[in-house]
Amino acid sequence: MTRRIAVFGAGYIGLVTGACLAELGHTVVVRDIAEDKVAALRAGRVPIYEPGLAELIAANAERLTFTLDADEATAEAEVVYVCVDTPPTASGDADLSRVWAVVDSAKGAAHLKAFVVKSTVPVGTGARIRAALDTAGLAGVGYGSNPEFTAEGRAVRDFMRPDRIVIGAFDEATAALVAEIHEGVDGPVITMDVPSAEMVKLTSNAFLATKISFANEIANICETTGADVTRVLGAVGADHRLGKHFLHAGIGWGGSCFPKDAVALKALASNGGYHPQILTDVIEVNNHQRRRAVTRLKDEIGALAGKTVAVLGMTFKPGTDDMREAPSTVIVDRLLSEGASVVCWDPMARTPHHAPWTAIRRAESVEEALSGAHAAMVVTEWPQLQAVDWRLAADSMADAVLFDGRNALEPERMGECGYTYISVGRATVRP
Ligand code: UGA
Repeated sequence: MTRRIAVFGAGYIGLVTGACLAELGHTVVVRDIAEDKVAALRAGRVPIYEPGLAELIAANAERLTFTLDADEATAEAEVVYVCVDTPPTASGDADLSRVWAVVDSAKGAAHLKAFVVKSTVPVGTGARIRAALDTAGLAGVGYGSNPEFTAEGRAVRDFMRPDRIVIGAFDEATAALVAEIHEGVDGPVITMDVPSAEMVKLTSNAFLATKISFANEIANICETTGADVTRVLGAVGADHRLGKHFLHAGIGWGGSCFPKDAVALKALASNGGYHPQILTDVIEVNNHQRRRAVTRLKDEIGALAGKTVAVLGMTFKPGTDDMREAPSTVIVDRLLSEGASVVCWDPMARTPHHAPWTAIRRAESVEEALSGAHAAMVVTEWPQLQAVDWRLAADSMADAVLFDGRNALEPERMGECGYTYISVGRATVRP
């Protein structure tokens, strides 16, 4: 059975959710407050880069519309899906003001059967929204928590073929309705109480971040012992109890989710009177790992003042144009404060109009960035790096020193191409 669904928020999550729900046959209105975003979407332009999303939106145009008007979105809606962002406040708690604005909008919806939250929220939010709906005379409207586990760059695939669909609800009918909306999605449904569903989301991201910080700590120990972290974690991850994913050492995690969710879970724990030691260390290891990248470069080439450093990659990971909490920001900031000139290359990112980005030069290609540079740093493992003629590029550099913050390149080959090649958790190779 298909439903009329209003999706609030046209960000990465809202657009993917809206497009995929339309693909499943539902009639979807996506509402956002950003005029330029809605205008672009109405004109057939997708304001973010996510593989397959533009095609999906175009293919489902007859069932997928966009609006600025909350009342227009809810007028016919049977289900409201909340996909607005929940950024951290100054205290580290999640800012739920946008979620509460959707609750207000939903109060006038005449056909509403369920109010479903996909935004990442602190545990206990569902209970508070349930109480607000009851007070507003909407006791008959079900509440659902349906956290998202899609990763940027593969979000459409993750939505359509997820490892699991988690549904938290206060009553069976709402859980069944949210499950029914997902008919056609290839993945198991796990239903539970609302607080547990809210906790699954925060725990999943914290656990993935923990795996990465652990991998980075092991990498740093490998550097002092002569072991090669790629070999170590490759073999460690072959144990099915541990798993090979998210054990890739580098300059650490970034993005719109891990940093925010780790801080939010920490705040949640502290608010409840518990000091989350492991989570605290996971965050600290990550912060240190970004800064350490520049320290390691300095250890190799000495003071950076007056030197030009090429930064290869700006986004927090490849396959996206997202710069939120990208390790590159900290690295570029540190390079500049050490007195280096910075030239950046990235195939997707738009250069932000604020510090430190306003002080960099932008190169159109990897080769252009490397030409004349005293050192280079791989910050995002874009596949384009594999196609570079590294031998030729080495000749064009003032000094062929390369710090590979993602272990994206082959040490031996880089040595053969003439580089002093420094990577994470592996021995430095010299020409
Ligand atoms: C993450 C989760 O993977 C999703 O399941 C979740 O739904 C999403 O957050 C969210 O909460 O919305 P995403 O932020 O798109 O997805 O990015 P990831 O692919 O998870 O990568 C996060 C960061 O970890 C990146 O900076 C990446 O470079 C880094 N990373 C990842 C490593 O340093 N090592 C690894 O082995 C894996």
